[in-house]
Amino acid sequence: MSADGFSGGPPPGARLDWTIDQGWESYTQAEHDVWITLYERQTALLPGRACDEFLRGLDALDLHRSGIPDFHRINEELQRLTGWSVVAVPGLVPDDVFFDHLANRRFPAGQFIRKADQLDYLKEPDIFHDVFGHVPMLTDPVFADYMQAYGQGGQRALSLGRLANLARLYWYTVEFGLIETEAGLRIYGAGIVSSRTESLFALDSASPNRLGFDLERVMRTPYRIDDFQQVYFVIPSIQSLQAVTLRDFAPLYDRLAGAADLGIAEIISADRVITTGSQAYAKAGGLLASAGD
Ligand code: PHE
Ligand code: FE
Repeated sequence: MSADGFSGGPPPGARLDWTIDQGWESYTQAEHDVWITLYERQTALLPGRACDEFLRGLDALDLHRSGIPDFHRINEELQRLTGWSVVAVPGLVPDDVFFDHLANRRFPAGQFIRKADQLDYLKEPDIFHDVFGHVPMLTDPVFADYMQAYGQGGQRALSLGRLANLARLYWYTVEFGLIETEAGLRIYGAGIVSSRTESLFALDSASPNRLGFDLERVMRTPYRIDDFQQVYFVIPSIQSLQAVTLRDFAPLYDRLAGAADLGIAEIISADRVITTGSQAYAKAGGLLASAGD
């Protein structure tokens, strides 16, 4: 089954599980420089924006050094902290392959890095998004367990035909999640922390809705893959996210099979509303409208 548009096996040169060698020795200085530029931009921006779990993980992994990190070095620390490892893949992998890696505490990361003229936007996740964005949270023991459980849940959702619903959970937590702390809202989603513009937009813009996380609600909410989100969901803690996802999703999937999707910017009476967004950014046409700036 290939709802994700892949057919056949791994590309030439990749192993059966789609992994490849990172080939760290082969990165050029220009590629290392792209990493350094992105790293410095984000680390200047994220204190006071990213959650403590992320910032602590970033410190623990010591990702900077002189450029793109060597997975062997990251993995020594990551293994010690939570038993996770990062494995290199050529690009996006099929859903079943992705879930199998997560279920075995391996995070598949793109081996390549964006070009210097695409610092702010790219379609396929590269090593900066995957490693800088995702790996720091994998040093947190609770989040690490959540990601493994998600891999197992993904295999199950595939077999039950409910992957479209489960993918929304991933999107609105792992990729674009916000967390409420005593000091205010903070970012933990990898898609936000790895993006300069969305690190600002997600917390500061008056445009998007910010709503309390509710599992079933999230699974009924479509998302944007090509622009800033119109809604962010806020969890009270990583622990609470893990707790609500422990339950058996099968009855939930049954209910969702009969339920209509919500509008992307809709607010319903059950929502715990943190911000009612103006949606001004989306109404003005989003990235398309600002492309010429
Ligand atoms: N509890 C979910 C199920 O029964 C699995 C899951 C756990 C999914 C954590 C996502 C995150 O399918
Ligand atoms: Fe990602």
